[in-house]
Amino acid sequence: MKKIRLLTPGPTPVPERLSLRMAQPIVHHRSPEFEQVFARVREGLQWLFQTKQDVVQFAASGTGAMEAALVNFLRKGDTAVVVDGGKFGERWAKLAKSYGVSGVTLKVEWGNPVDPAAVERALKEYPGAKAVFVQANESSTGVAHPVQKLAQVTQKTGAILVVDAISALGAFDLPFDAWGIDVMVSACHKALGLPPGVAFLAANEKAWKLNETADLPRFYFDLKRERDNQRKNQTAWTPAIALVEGLDESLQMFREEGLEATFARHERLARGARAGMQALGLQLYSKAPSAAMTTVLAPDGIDSEKLVKHLFKQYGIKLVGGQDAAKGKIFRIAHLGYFDDFDVLIVVGAIERGLSDLGARIQLGSGLSAAQKAMAQASGAAA
Ligand SMILES: Cc1ncc(COP(=O)(O)O)c(C=O)c1O
Repeated sequence: MKKIRLLTPGPTPVPERLSLRMAQPIVHHRSPEFEQVFARVREGLQWLFQTKQDVVQFAASGTGAMEAALVNFLRKGDTAVVVDGGKFGERWAKLAKSYGVSGVTLKVEWGNPVDPAAVERALKEYPGAKAVFVQANESSTGVAHPVQKLAQVTQKTGAILVVDAISALGAFDLPFDAWGIDVMVSACHKALGLPPGVAFLAANEKAWKLNETADLPRFYFDLKRERDNQRKNQTAWTPAIALVEGLDESLQMFREEGLEATFARHERLARGARAGMQALGLQLYSKAPSAAMTTVLAPDGIDSEKLVKHLFKQYGIKLVGGQDAAKGKIFRIAHLGYFDDFDVLIVVGAIERGLSDLGARIQLGSGLSAAQKAMAQASGAAA
């Protein structure tokens, strides 16, 4: 039996091609060979972020880039608006608090996207607010917040829009320059399909202006020092060399598929997963489902934690359940990164079986049939 099929919102499955590339003998990071790779990766990240700005890399998990996005632009005592519609929104608030930034938290009911008008009102109420922090895909709920509309709001103010695209970059369109996003962070262990260890951050002129006066303590995550080094294809500290090699390969795979086709694939998989779950009589949890993942309410009488455990133990399918108030109520299917239509059929099929094993009244095959049709339709084939 296959040991594990990973459908979690990070880490995600690693394509064989990336594993093979990373298994090559390690090179030194201060060598012409590595500089060439690093230069290609810098350019590739700009292409993926759809920006002319520098995309600075850190050897860190995603939270490292979130921390960098706070400490490099704000001052102690500053006010920032934080969209909190899940665990990762909550993380922005905790980060702000730990650095003495006064977070005005906009609580959004879990499963819902933030209303841009609420952000506009908050910025009117706190005209000195320096930043708005939000997730592109709130991984705890599967909600896609309306980033483009939020950028339209912040552009009229002095506040920068800081977007956590950790589980969104490469899954759906977030054109950094065209939408006027000010700061965006992401990481390599989501759509890019690598093991964790590299995080990225892009900032525009409005954000760099704030960087000139930012006074929060920082050392490892000093963005300006890294940017100046990275412009010379150097890093201030030892980079995650093998992962940067993998990143080079991953970005090459993205280029081969093409950005639009990559986004279309994620959208198709999302449609398949949603249709499959709905055909089983299940309700989607997210009111604004992102293309990166599908979050689902477990049927009455079934504890989603039990289902998640059963699917792993019995079938090697690794999903995640809900957190906090959603614990026991929802399960989350990520189709983020190295996935195709048939991976979605596997997970829909496993969920049918799992629910049936746990006593739910499920018509085996009904979810599969709906998922097949939805994906065939989305790919333009006859359904
Ligand atoms: C939206 C989002 N933000 C932040 C993080 C935190 O990233 P990490 O666990 O890599 O520090 C994650 C990880 O799952 C995420 O999905």
